Amino acid sequence: MADASPLTTVRLTELTECGGCAAKWGGSDLRSLLAGWQAEAEPEGLLVGLRPFDDAAVVRLADGVALVSTVDFFPPLVDDPDDYGAIAAANACSDVYAMGGDVVVALNVAAFPEHLDPDIIARILAAAAGVVREAGGVVAGGHTIRAPEPIFGLAVQGIVRPGAQFTKAGARPGDALVLSKPLGTGLALASGDEHAVAAAIAGMRALNRDAAAALRAAGDAVHAVTDVTGFGLAGHAWEVAEQARAIVVIDGHRLPAYPGALDAAVRGVRTGGDARNRAYLAGHLAEGATEAVRALVHDPQTSGGLLAAVDPAAVDPAGTAAAGGLAAGGFAVIGRVEPGPAAVELR
Ligand code: CO
Ligand code: CO
Repeated sequence: MADASPLTTVRLTELTECGGCAAKWGGSDLRSLLAGWQAEAEPEGLLVGLRPFDDAAVVRLADGVALVSTVDFFPPLVDDPDDYGAIAAANACSDVYAMGGDVVVALNVAAFPEHLDPDIIARILAAAAGVVREAGGVVAGGHTIRAPEPIFGLAVQGIVRPGAQFTKAGARPGDALVLSKPLGTGLALASGDEHAVAAAIAGMRALNRDAAAALRAAGDAVHAVTDVTGFGLAGHAWEVAEQARAIVVIDGHRLPAYPGALDAAVRGVRTGGDARNRAYLAGHLAEGATEAVRALVHDPQTSGGLLAAVDPAAVDPAGTAAAGGLAAGGFAVIGRVEPGPAAVELR
């Protein structure tokens, strides 16, 4: 009967090889997948599409309102069903926040092994619905298939005022670079240290809602925004640098990290996406700092923070700390934008 008995005591991460945003296709592979049709003309109402690509699509619906549309899903990166559902939902909502939008409605995208205990699946779905509710939205449907490997995430729709959307483009030399969450989710989860794992899980469950609100309050001071996920800090900073045709400088000693993440990096812990992320940036990245800090900037993040290039007036006069609303949104200053050909520099 072993075959047909429900998987009630299963550890979710044993059902997959590569969980969380580390499962994401590499940046260079993704670009070649899109190359064939990315060049097609985009309709006028499409305010943000694939040219250039961004965190979510933005479509003008009527005067004063645009739809923000995104989807994100991945295999389990944690064993607890509540954590998995909550993290997947916070991560999926993050792309709406990266565009400056408000979450409105979400649909589950799910695949589960047939013999997985229905109670586990119900807990994943309930936790995700709770986080979407916390975001101010509602889960109103979805689609579930049978598959040997669990996959869960959500398609999230939000709204934004047309023209007020944030994009990855627009960073300017002189800008301060700010980040709303610590780094090292992959390293912390792989560390085997239960305190490190617990801190990373709490961070991944947290919405970027307050961070997005702080950026919106900063108004015109905000020049470019994205969220840090599978490509790691350096990979997402490169997207900002590429579109701005400028150098994004990351100060290695200022990077906030989850407890235990740097220790794990020093011990030689590396996650699946680390090598892929380094390869993606070959030729675009000048690396100073220690090897452990390099591991931190290449570590694939799941449900990572918002990364923004902002007018230096929005941070303290020395440019070393987020000030006012940005500090309240959880932001720390981690670098700056300098003139030059597109590149990322880790110093
Ligand atoms: Co994103
Ligand atoms: Co995404």
